[in-house]
Amino acid sequence: MLPDLNDRQAILTADPGFAALALAELDQALGAPLSPPPQLAPGIWLASLPVSFGELAEQWRQHPPIFVRHLCPAQVALPRPSAASLAETIRAQFVARLDPSQSFSVQTRLLAETDYKPFDVNSALAALLVAESGAVLDVRQPQQVVSVVVAVAPGRGAPVRTAYLGLSLACHNLSDWAGGVRRFRREAGQISRAEFKLLEALEQFRIELPPRGTALDLGAAPGGWTRVLRQREQYVTAVDPAGLHPSLAPDKGVRHKRLTAEAYLAEGPDSYDLIVNDMRLDARDSARLMVAYAPYLYYPHGAALITLKLPETGRETILDHSFHILRQVYTVAGARQLFHNRSEITVYLKPLRPAAG
Ligand SMILES: C[S@@+](CC[C@H](N)C(=O)[O-])C[C@H]1O[C@@H](n2cnc3c(N)ncnc32)[C@H](O)[C@@H]1O
Repeated sequence: MLPDLNDRQAILTADPGFAALALAELDQALGAPLSPPPQLAPGIWLASLPVSFGELAEQWRQHPPIFVRHLCPAQVALPRPSAASLAETIRAQFVARLDPSQSFSVQTRLLAETDYKPFDVNSALAALLVAESGAVLDVRQPQQVVSVVVAVAPGRGAPVRTAYLGLSLACHNLSDWAGGVRRFRREAGQISRAEFKLLEALEQFRIELPPRGTALDLGAAPGGWTRVLRQREQYVTAVDPAGLHPSLAPDKGVRHKRLTAEAYLAEGPDSYDLIVNDMRLDARDSARLMVAYAPYLYYPHGAALITLKLPETGRETILDHSFHILRQVYTVAGARQLFHNRSEITVYLKPLRPAAG
């Protein structure tokens, strides 16, 4: 018989700057305020839950939080982990629990000093699990994840380095990536770091762009999002009073409207398959502009992406107000504080059926 695991302990991760909002989401999901869980590192909490990990994870799978970026179970706590004791614990606790018919990956985060690197742990434990369970390793899109988080255990007394281990379905972790950290490789020709935001949003919300579709990029300069959309064969109208990167100038698939979004609206825009908006603007003003642009989005397949910039104070009120504005004409199909978002969130919108007449 396999020994019981602690199924009421989880590790949550969020941007440290959004800690209060992330913990409020946990309270809301649990239906009661939890005393703030101890931190393993800034923005990483070890939470003892009043429900099972599976119950919380399933609730969040169906209604994902915005600010909690990653969730994983901490079913086993292994003090003073060495490479050998980690392997032994994985063999004893997880080999028989891994579903051999589903792919898996090992995701390691080291939040305390160790003499090994995440890659060493991932590859050693993955090799062991492949050999002993027969499950297939898939690092990019695993169906199951073995999470390993090494941190100094919270609490009084002498600090003890501890490994927290857990096995979960990847769809229960809120992200396919360890700690929700989704990195992309820098490319030659990249125009802005903002490109990563769009790449992450397209992946996170599983957005399929129509072949040779039309896209409107509001607040496009210097042109990173426009470049990403062009790579996906979209014809792009880039709206921004600022200039675009010279590398975009020869591209016949890019039309630069050197205007504000307000001025282009007054001009009478074309219709689009996709509208993206990364304008540096108050979130509520940006939301109002998206509402004004909704008639220029094809229905029903059209989609929109907007980043809502959140200042230091009054974030919840601003966010609630912005959602209220957007919901006049859109369904919020997704909203996340992505790894590449700084003081903002990314919202994925689908148009509501336009009013007749
Ligand atoms: C963060 S940058 C966009 C970066 C872009 N997504 C990229 O990947 O390169 C914000 C842009 O919003 C533009 N902007 C701000 N207010 C605007 C408005 N009312 N209409 C159009 N663009 C606006 C600014 O000129 C600025 O270039």
